[in-house]
Amino acid sequence: MSNLIVLGAQWGDEGKGKMVDLFSDKFDYVVRYQGGHNAGHTVFIGPTKYVLKLIPSGILRPGVRAVIGNGVVIDPAALLEEIATLEKAGIPVASQLAISNRAHVIFPFHRIVEKMSEARTDRTAIGTTSRGIGPCYEDKIARRGIRIADLIDTDNFRALYANLIADKRTIAEAFGIPFDLDVDALRAQYEEFAERIRPMVADTAILLRDAMNAKKPVLFEGAQGTMLDIDHGTYPFVTSSSAAAGGACTGAGVPPTRIDGIVGVSKAYITRVGGGPFPTEDPTEAGERIRKAGKEFGAVTGRPRRCGWFDVPLLHYTAAVNGFDSLIITKLDVLDEVDEIPVCTAYKINGRVTTEMPATNRELEVIEPVYEMVPGWKSSTRGITSLDALPAAARRYLDVLQERTGVEVGCVSLGPERSETIIVPGSKLEALLR
Ligand code: GDP
Ligand code: IMO
Ligand code: MG
Repeated sequence: MSNLIVLGAQWGDEGKGKMVDLFSDKFDYVVRYQGGHNAGHTVFIGPTKYVLKLIPSGILRPGVRAVIGNGVVIDPAALLEEIATLEKAGIPVASQLAISNRAHVIFPFHRIVEKMSEARTDRTAIGTTSRGIGPCYEDKIARRGIRIADLIDTDNFRALYANLIADKRTIAEAFGIPFDLDVDALRAQYEEFAERIRPMVADTAILLRDAMNAKKPVLFEGAQGTMLDIDHGTYPFVTSSSAAAGGACTGAGVPPTRIDGIVGVSKAYITRVGGGPFPTEDPTEAGERIRKAGKEFGAVTGRPRRCGWFDVPLLHYTAAVNGFDSLIITKLDVLDEVDEIPVCTAYKINGRVTTEMPATNRELEVIEPVYEMVPGWKSSTRGITSLDALPAAARRYLDVLQERTGVEVGCVSLGPERSETIIVPGSKLEALLR
């Protein structure tokens, strides 16, 4: 059995939650390594819908240890609320969840800073989830952040908190912004959160080292997607963490040599929430039909997702950055009614044709996608459980994606439920899950 990273190959919301839930019965540990409650991973178990934000989707499988790694940023109020919701649904979270002592803590002032930054008229808004994610990572990188280990060490916490508040006050004053936070009440609230979180806190890198030494398989659950990665995404329209495969090692404290497989999750088309370039976006009626058929509204913010067509150069790029062993194509069923499906095979940038991902927004924004039209199948694929039973045109569409991206399609998803999935016999993915 392998240690596997499952992550987003596009701009997030690819269906990672569904796939991680499906695979997690084969793993002893499921680990989140970056991001925070900006993620929204939807899992259906029968008719029951769960939306996981901070807690790994593996929590839904009895006996699986769910781990929040050091690379995650944690809003304790959001975490406790998510725990309460899951426990109400009968999931014994406290006994399954381990929280890294090195993960950083989000405070309400992080959200305030983000809102102010997004509202500025002299810069383009990123279109963030307003969860305080970016400003918390800013404090982490600036080496003034507060970690879970610091939060539960009361005397130390008071000193660090006083320093951090002094910092925020100085900045607010410098910009002439009123600083009217009740800092003592906030500190008392976080001290109370600390007591509730304390029993779940662990050195999760050691926990995972011991698990791996005991040959217990570990699944790493990416949040967001590679095109939202702080280094490799469409900067600055990205999130503030390392969503790509490398982030799993730094964000969980696991050596790269312990990773056996890397699997990319991609929709059969593409979506994006928030601002930023999107070469294959279709703002017409056709894009609207995809949004409707795919129920493309954000799991966290409810915002309509921007919809567009499968982008081969983008997938080629994210496959190179991550080293995908296999691709999972989700939501193929959403294309059931499309006559002819555009697939972008190259970019035309100021008259030049390329298949490489440009680094600047100036180039990204002027891309004219070069489309190949692939015939649709115009019939329902819901409930189909083998590749052979798919309409020939649907199989051809998958072949086009596989050939053009150069990565095997190891799995196809045809609906939100566990049963609505085909794992391709003889694929690398099938072997990795064995
Ligand atoms: P994540 O953030 O990558 O976990 O993805 P989200 O949960 O935000 O968004 C994916 C949405 O598509 C969810 O509502 C899933 O229930 C749904 N979904 C996942 N796979 C499929 C599929 O193959 N077909 C359809 N129709 N819906 C799917
Ligand atoms: P999952 O894990 C899709 C987007 C936001 C915004 C940008 C920065 O469900 O795939 P942030 O709040 O992170 O600073 O916002 O990133 N974004 C996501 N888009 N899926 C997500 O998570 C996202 N998490 C953040 O919309 O454009
Ligand atoms: Mg999501």
